[in-house]
Amino acid sequence: MAAFRALLDLCKRRGFLYQSAEIYGGLRGAYDYGPLGVELKKNILNSWWQRHVYWRDDVVGLDTSILTPHPVLKASGHVDEFTDLLVDCVLTKERFRPDKAPTLEFISSKDTPGGRIPVEAPDKATAKAWQQLIQEQIAPGIQTTLEGKRIMLHVNSFVKPDAKGEGGRIDFVSASMPEQSISLEYNGYVEPNSNSPFLTASRPFNLMFKTFLDPIDPIDRVIQTATSQEQQNKSQGAIREAVDQVLKPSTVYLRPETAQGVFINFEQVTRTMNKRPPFGIAQVGKSFRNEIRLEHGIFRTPEFEQLELEYFIPPWESSHWFKYWRELRFKWWLEHACHKENFRQRDHEKNEMAHYASSCTDVEYKYPWGWGEVEGVAHRGNYDLTQHIKNSNAAFEVVEDEVRVSPSVMEVDECLIPTEKPARYVPHVIESSCGLNRTMLAYLCDAFHQVSEGNNKPPRSILRLHPRLAPVKCAVMPLTGKPEFMPLAESIAKSLRRRGWFTMVEAQKLKIGKRYYRHDEIGTPWCVTVDYQSLEDETVTIRDRDTGNQQRMHWRDIQRFIGDKLMDDEEL
Ligand code: GAP
Repeated sequence: MAAFRALLDLCKRRGFLYQSAEIYGGLRGAYDYGPLGVELKKNILNSWWQRHVYWRDDVVGLDTSILTPHPVLKASGHVDEFTDLLVDCVLTKERFRPDKAPTLEFISSKDTPGGRIPVEAPDKATAKAWQQLIQEQIAPGIQTTLEGKRIMLHVNSFVKPDAKGEGGRIDFVSASMPEQSISLEYNGYVEPNSNSPFLTASRPFNLMFKTFLDPIDPIDRVIQTATSQEQQNKSQGAIREAVDQVLKPSTVYLRPETAQGVFINFEQVTRTMNKRPPFGIAQVGKSFRNEIRLEHGIFRTPEFEQLELEYFIPPWESSHWFKYWRELRFKWWLEHACHKENFRQRDHEKNEMAHYASSCTDVEYKYPWGWGEVEGVAHRGNYDLTQHIKNSNAAFEVVEDEVRVSPSVMEVDECLIPTEKPARYVPHVIESSCGLNRTMLAYLCDAFHQVSEGNNKPPRSILRLHPRLAPVKCAVMPLTGKPEFMPLAESIAKSLRRRGWFTMVEAQKLKIGKRYYRHDEIGTPWCVTVDYQSLEDETVTIRDRDTGNQQRMHWRDIQRFIGDKLMDDEEL
């Protein structure tokens, strides 16, 4: 994690990533992307869009509204099912997801048959306050001892929960009668930071941000409804229902995935672009989730960007296309990686699948804290289109005079081919959904190298980003600060900028080696130096970030040299 901290420091220092609203103390989980972060994100997006939209004739783009009305997300199942379980720790007041929480940690002990449970407080004063809280309110009568920042809970015996998470129990030693126990239900997890077992029952928590498209402040409506004559003496649940009903017509959500915008436009796109399955719709944009736990910088944030592609197919071709997209997407990931072994694919277990998916394969990256999802390729079947047909009468059925099998399809599921003529079917969907911010973080971690400089000097950092992803493509450096080098340096920079490559001119009075190192640190693949020889014969040197090797060439050849290197291998 020391290297990760060094990377975060670099990102802040060199303009990749800033804490949002920092001058006002910051907003938890919100980040702003600095000039280099914007470029890196844009380059990732461009590579994705180029490969999956521009290079194909079966995928088109779309950009739909972030604000999504209630009926769309009710139909898609997000209103009722897009939930995580949430648990509160009554001791630390932390809120967490039980499915991601660790199990109890024990320390064996001679004087307590079941060992001791160490509860870790942030400091000694908090430990003392927590011990008092446990003994007076949370679990009165249990035996505890204080060891520095730890409160030790003494245990007589312990029963693990069964496979369904039921029947677990911790029997604490009673302080007044040590042979007796005071029992606490144990569901198989504890609060992640402290190991505290003092938890509320789990309850579902909807992840969507709700807001109201209404000039009248919804809080006024809430107060009016809740305090009206009609609601007097009603239960809290009944009042809540009445309030929800009043607010419903103006309720909108910030979309939790970009995909629903694609599904509800399916018919319009097929008609206006004259498309028939198999074909895809790509969308890039922001999504929002009120995550219970925000973690690891930009890894899990409430506001994030997704690169999503919904590929619509005849149902009988589903297996083929699911395999196809899993392979194609993983290939894209590996193409930009330095350490391919840190990327893997993992099939979902049945119990971790989203409500709309019948199969899903994640792409995962080995972050410094462990494997984490960066993309999901899901078989959504005809779930979404069918839900929208049922709830809106949309004309999403495809009608074909003749059943066709796409020429490249190797695997056909015969039993899903309709027998009637004309053939009618609701297309299946294979979705690839990639988080842009997580992708940026994964490639930054992958590219970050610290190189020893010897002689007790601190290591220097190099970002070995794939040149197509690198924010700055080239830095042009006059050898000294003398003005005679500047016209040529500016001409070279101009010629590269006209190609759409972010190019910087570095004319500071720093030694050339130092200027190279500053660009290694932000991942610039090439540095061009204008020197005395350049003034005589118009040649310059171009230095490679990864090898440090330099070549001399005419300055007008730099454009072609870089262009060739940036060309996608697949283009050749
Ligand atoms: N349309 C399908 C869908 O949204 P998902 O697995 O929930 O599927 C897809 O999300 C991708 O979006 C994830 O693989 C991840 O990269 C990214 N993602 C999801 N939640 C995120 C969050 N809170 N912060 C950052 N990225 C997130």
